[in-house]
Amino acid sequence: MLKTNTIIVVVLFTLVVAQSCKKEVFDVSEPEEIVVPVDECLDVFYENGAKSIVEAKCVTCHQAGGSGPGDYTKNDVLIANLAKIKQRAVVDKTMPSASAPQLNDLEIETLRNWIDCDGQFGP
Ligand code: HEC
Repeated sequence: MLKTNTIIVVVLFTLVVAQSCKKEVFDVSEPEEIVVPVDECLDVFYENGAKSIVEAKCVTCHQAGGSGPGDYTKNDVLIANLAKIKQRAVVDKTMPSASAPQLNDLEIETLRNWIDCDGQFGP
């Protein structure tokens, strides 16, 4: 009787081991996707997006002697006005003023993205 039990245990054990080996050897399922967090703002600088828009569509008025307040050719002025710029140009869309060439969707999105990424300037 003892012998039979031992045989059963050994057989079961062998099956379990064989099964687990089989899984390791033949498990060809895709490894779980590794999600590496990407900082989407890493390369978002004034110089590589927003600048050309501000120069083309804002600076005409927003510079020394222009009709709009603030000199947008100066980075410190832009930094001080980021929230207002977002409000007027991206949220309300009341800038540029009605008489001036307007921003297209891509330009609005580029400004929004730059400001939402903390309005960084290039290194
Ligand atoms: C045709 C001239 C003109 C252009 C172009 C223009 N602005 Fe203005 N902007 C003004 C004037 C005039 C005012 C002041 C009157 C007002 O607030 O509407 C003003 C006001 C603002 C204000 C509010 C300032 C404050 O202190 O309250 C912001 C922000 C602003 N503009 C951003 C922009 C941005 C960003 C652009 C480009 C996308 C732009 N403007 C293009 C003439 C212009």
